[in-house]
Amino acid sequence: MKRIAVLTSGGDAPGMNACIRGAVRAGLYYGMEVYGIVRGYDGMINDNFIEMDDRSVSNIIQKGGTILKSARSDEFRTKEGRAKAYENIKKHGIDGLVVIGGNGTFTGAGLFYDEFKIPCVGAPGTIDNDLYGTDFTIGYDTAVNTCLAAIDKIRDTADAHERCFFIEVMGRDTGYIAVRSAIAGGAEMAILPEEKTDIEDIIKRLKYGTSDSKASHIIIVAEGEKSGRASDIANEVKERIPALDVKVTILGHVQRGGAPTAADRVLASRLGLAAVEGLWNGQTNVMAGIINRNLIYTPFVETITKKKPIKDELTRIIEVLNGRKYQE
Ligand code: F6P
Repeated sequence: MKRIAVLTSGGDAPGMNACIRGAVRAGLYYGMEVYGIVRGYDGMINDNFIEMDDRSVSNIIQKGGTILKSARSDEFRTKEGRAKAYENIKKHGIDGLVVIGGNGTFTGAGLFYDEFKIPCVGAPGTIDNDLYGTDFTIGYDTAVNTCLAAIDKIRDTADAHERCFFIEVMGRDTGYIAVRSAIAGGAEMAILPEEKTDIEDIIKRLKYGTSDSKASHIIIVAEGEKSGRASDIANEVKERIPALDVKVTILGHVQRGGAPTAADRVLASRLGLAAVEGLWNGQTNVMAGIINRNLIYTPFVETITKKKPIKDELTRIIEVLNGRKYQE
């Protein structure tokens, strides 16, 4: 392996830059030439390649976003698009690819290998933490800490005005961000995409107007399929309990930016290096991840198809610690 290329694809995640830095510096360490592909798979199709040296990744470990830009490429989903991309890979003499992203990124890389046999190793970059094959994805810890900073602030005003806040966080298919920020933020409930919304249960648990009711409430809602789910739930609750002062805050893309936490920088550096070492050692179609503190390579097909369910123990913490006594 003499020349490799690195790209970021899908939704950006804090720590992607640290991972690019890890991959570029590791490639150079092993004496390879390293290219960056700008705008993910779109850049591969449109011949947007840049040669990188160790200075190209200076001063980026602390930065959110991705210096290589990111995109969700529709064209790469087509055979024609991938064929165009291969022409450019050939033109630049690329022997291997490091792809940093989520499910869609690895699906694309897997197809590309099947068709053109370009070895490819992935690093998990998504705030959602929804990838099988790693305990944590790059960006998840930072996103949770961003949510937490917002929840703490909202708690002040919720308490001052005795209001009920529904705070919507990201997480399309899984409620990892919701569960962790709910535990850390001391929320009463976390409403997850994995479960059907049960308004009756939410109302029952709010217990508004009863002798043990609370003056203010914090409920975390994972957006699920479309942003705005928290508003839909809040409107229903408002209708059922008109006396409750209900407010909604949608945190949105603020969760995707900002300086990565130490945990994300370390994870990203570790996995950037591991992705390159995977390629160097002849691996392909695998994602580097950390499970129980150990580096593990998991086949793309498993990271894409297998689920990493949220542990019941975590959702139970929210339920038990929300200040209500057990009742039969
Ligand atoms: O996959 C990461 C993520 O931030 C999801 O949590 C969210 O549903 C989605 O991306 C939003 O994507 P976009 O920025 O393309 O609207």
